[in-house]
Amino acid sequence: MKKEIQLGYEYFKNSTELNDIEKKLFEKAKLARENAYAPYSQFLVGCSILLENGEIFSGNNQENAAFPSGLCAERTTLFWVAANFPNMKIKKIFVIGGPRESYEKTPPIPPCGACRQSIIEYETKQHEDIDLYFSSMNEEVIKIQAIKDLLPFYFDATFL
Ligand code: THU
Repeated sequence: MKKEIQLGYEYFKNSTELNDIEKKLFEKAKLARENAYAPYSQFLVGCSILLENGEIFSGNNQENAAFPSGLCAERTTLFWVAANFPNMKIKKIFVIGGPRESYEKTPPIPPCGACRQSIIEYETKQHEDIDLYFSSMNEEVIKIQAIKDLLPFYFDATFL
């Protein structure tokens, strides 16, 4: 028997099409990207997270001379938020990435597999979907309704 999984998403040609809170998230993620510590890849990623109380926190990728010891922008931000606001629901996550130089033509940068898995942990924990936005430096934006949609057949605590 053949089955199919469909992925619905929204596409914004420019960040000007976003609503006010989404624009704020975009700006905060873009600003955070500037402070990324990425001397090895020269690939800068910023992330912002909106909590249910309206607060926004941001972070960026942190690399390391021992390469695997570095961490993506999404997990740097997510873990800080989860550590400091363990009982607050996460509403939205915004990611913006691109090379340090000549980023004009790069597409929206989606979260890596490990970040998807990490975000799903909190989506499952809070019993509420997390909107995920990812963007390019030229301000194209893709919105996914729930992070689970980006990781079909994801593994979570229900299997343990
Ligand atoms: N990176 C992120 O921060 N987030 C992603 O979703 C993709 C990749 C970082 C990791 C590394 O510092 C650099 O981008 C190049 O892979």
